[in-house]
Amino acid sequence: MSQLLHIDASLFSSDGVSSTLAREFVERLRARDPKMRVTHRDLGRAPIPHLDAERLSAINTAAAQRTPAQQRIAEEADRLIAELQTADRLVLGVPMYNFGVPSVLKAWFDHVARAGVTFRYTATGPQGLLTGKRAVVVTSRGGRHRDQPTDTQSGYLTTMLGFLGITDLEFVYAEGLNLGETERQHSLAAATQTIQQLAAT
Ligand SMILES: Cc1cc2nc3c(=O)[nH]c(=O)nc-3n(C[C@H](O)[C@H](O)[C@H](O)COP(=O)(O)O)c2cc1C
Repeated sequence: MSQLLHIDASLFSSDGVSSTLAREFVERLRARDPKMRVTHRDLGRAPIPHLDAERLSAINTAAAQRTPAQQRIAEEADRLIAELQTADRLVLGVPMYNFGVPSVLKAWFDHVARAGVTFRYTATGPQGLLTGKRAVVVTSRGGRHRDQPTDTQSGYLTTMLGFLGITDLEFVYAEGLNLGETERQHSLAAATQTIQQLAAT
């Protein structure tokens, strides 16, 4: 049975444009595979705290030595990693905020990138351990940034997911959403068409 991890990062939660498009993609996948199991993390509604020294220390402390508070923090991070490890598909709804990914998504990456668990260092460099997964990023932007230096998201997400071993990655772009109603509708229609095509493969 296939397992999908669906992550939204819009501050508007399920009302975000990126969330709406990502949800459409997930629903199309579900229609093709009704038995598919879906884990949904809405980081806008339930943000992961930023990784600070207290949280990193809790995660790095041996299980037997953790205080109850450290144990709770470590279990939270372990749960995020387990969701990723068990998924064979990943769908990310990612709006552009101030030229980057939402800080809640960065916080999620900070919690799931763990040496020896999701990646490891080898003599020839780092090796991602989350192999054999397909990922789709649905990104929404007020302006147009694709293939421009202002698009810091696509490179970052390709690098970050690749670092974890997730290299089968596709992007769906909904851009120019704040450049007038005609452009917005055109862009949303194009993104929906791409979603339909991707969901059919
Ligand atoms: C706090 C904030 C920052 C934004 N920064 C950018 C930006 O740097 N570039 C851009 O093209 N659009 C920017 N936008 C517009 C959003 O990318 C656009 O409205 C997008 O559709 C939001 O997706 P969402 O509805 O899924 O949250 C910003 C919007 C907000 C709320």
